[in-house]
Amino acid sequence: MCGIIGVTGEADAIPLLLEGLHRLEYRGYDSAGVAMVVEDQVWRARAATARTSVATLAELTAGAPRGHAAAIGHTRWATHGSPTEENAHPHVDCTGRLALIHNGIIENHAELRAEIEANGHTVTSGTDTEVMAHLIEEQLSGGATLPDAVRAVLRRLRGSFSIAVISADEPDTIVAACRITPLVLGLEDGMTLLASDIPALIGHTRRVYTLADDQLAVLTPGALSVMTLEGEPVEPEQRTITWDLEAAQKEGFEDFMSKEMHQQPTAVGDTLLDRRAVGGELILDEMRLTPDDLRGIDKVFIVACGSSYHAALVAKYAIEHWVKVPVEVDIASEFRYRDPVLNERTLCVGVSQSGETLDTAEAVREAARLGAKVLVVSNVVDSSMARAADGVLYTRAGPEIGVASTKCHLAQIVALEVLGLYLAQILRTQPAARVNEILNAMERLPSLVTETLARADDVDDVASKLTDARDFFFLGRHVGFPVALEGALKLKELAYLRAEGYPAGELKHGPIALIEPGAVVVGIATRNPLWEKMLSNVAEVRSRGATVVLVADDGDEESAAVADHVLRVPPTSPLLAPVVGVVPLQQLAYRLARLHGHDPDRPRNLAKTVTVE
Ligand code: G6P
Repeated sequence: MCGIIGVTGEADAIPLLLEGLHRLEYRGYDSAGVAMVVEDQVWRARAATARTSVATLAELTAGAPRGHAAAIGHTRWATHGSPTEENAHPHVDCTGRLALIHNGIIENHAELRAEIEANGHTVTSGTDTEVMAHLIEEQLSGGATLPDAVRAVLRRLRGSFSIAVISADEPDTIVAACRITPLVLGLEDGMTLLASDIPALIGHTRRVYTLADDQLAVLTPGALSVMTLEGEPVEPEQRTITWDLEAAQKEGFEDFMSKEMHQQPTAVGDTLLDRRAVGGELILDEMRLTPDDLRGIDKVFIVACGSSYHAALVAKYAIEHWVKVPVEVDIASEFRYRDPVLNERTLCVGVSQSGETLDTAEAVREAARLGAKVLVVSNVVDSSMARAADGVLYTRAGPEIGVASTKCHLAQIVALEVLGLYLAQILRTQPAARVNEILNAMERLPSLVTETLARADDVDDVASKLTDARDFFFLGRHVGFPVALEGALKLKELAYLRAEGYPAGELKHGPIALIEPGAVVVGIATRNPLWEKMLSNVAEVRSRGATVVLVADDGDEESAAVADHVLRVPPTSPLLAPVVGVVPLQQLAYRLARLHGHDPDRPRNLAKTVTVE
């Protein structure tokens, strides 16, 4: 995920671009850059100094030439190509007269790169973006106008993009377009703007337009025209923004948690994006650890805290099933104070949204000291854990502001399961066709999560009937167990209600003594190999007077028959089901927090990133 901004018709664009980039830093900051047309040339500055990239760019642009026309800026979160200056946007074509910025992933970049290299172009970066600049250059040299050239190229792209292009030959024009990744346009007297989101435009205009998928916009000072990729003119939808900056950052949602829950389909989709070669096999080239490094692995340790720990517990079931190697999952704060048995044949995976949690960072450091290979699953690019590890696999959820993890939790499950399939591919424990089949099912997860999110009213209904309840038990079996743990954690941290997450089969060894009328049991009854046994455990609590809420697959009437309330989810295969099943539990905790008058973004006593032991 990256942030883009552009303006034409503003005589002093640099401060506007820098302020916009600063507001877009939440989308990534491993490099930043600007380009503008000035005196019949493209002037460009780029910096790749991680967290300080925008500040470094401010220094570099202090002496930028005046009297410029169209200008664009970019802040990057690396996907293809390491976070270096040469991979920083804007990218230019061979003539240096065209500059382009991009947010998204071009899935067919490898074949396009081969094509332009064969045509004699010199590609200077390792990004998937630069190919577009050279393809547009070819169109322009054939006599096309800038908008026509961009349209022709975009029709050839697979993947997601929002882009902005400037050319020294059309100095006042910016051509912008998008597919899947967002782009908003703004209009003010004599000035036209674009950005990845509204906060970057606040203070400059209140009149904004949202570009739809496969639409292209031509921005000139104070004017805007929009067309489809086929060249048909369209009228973009106009909105007047009355929000202040903080409201704009929430994009119309009541709080960050709601916004982030709604971003979950994208978080899951982006984490899966572009992981497969043309033949269908998994390629995790950003990971740094090579197949040879992983071939000798005979044991996996996963260490994490909080919601990241629950994602790891889901992965244990998947990896042991697919890869047939033992997987131990440990709470990071416990791991290094026992005598964990690991060696150079152990893969230790540290899972951390922030990549900064002290307990997890110290746990993987200890694993490395004991000789294990360390892989970090992090959401924050270039986090200290990511830097220190032998390898890194990024969840691409975008920044998570809400203290209670939602979209990152889902992205972590998906990333860890992708890792499991990758190990299965390397160690040949699953046939290629099976790996493919599971990946196909995973690619359907974003739409299943979207479908589940759309049922929030049903969850709200159930929540409104539980406002007097004070004791909650979340029960699950198999992968339903970590889902139960996560549901209970969410309820504790957001609604401050007593909630126990328990493996349902273990209930009879103690916790069942606490079940009496008034207790609420939330059961994860999506179909998995232990579903029937799960229903027997539900019968045990029901007969003791508990109110039963079940998360159940669509059409599962047997589960519904033993529940007081049902939270329906669309079915998927058992090992993928937690990605969908946890969503109504997030919503339940969210709604109960609101009903009890608590701010879900700022739960008491908690912090987003915990850097103490
Ligand atoms: C804190 C947060 C949780 C998070 C946990 C681990 O407790 O409130 O939401 O799951 O830290 O954080 P990490 O960044 O390591 O995933």
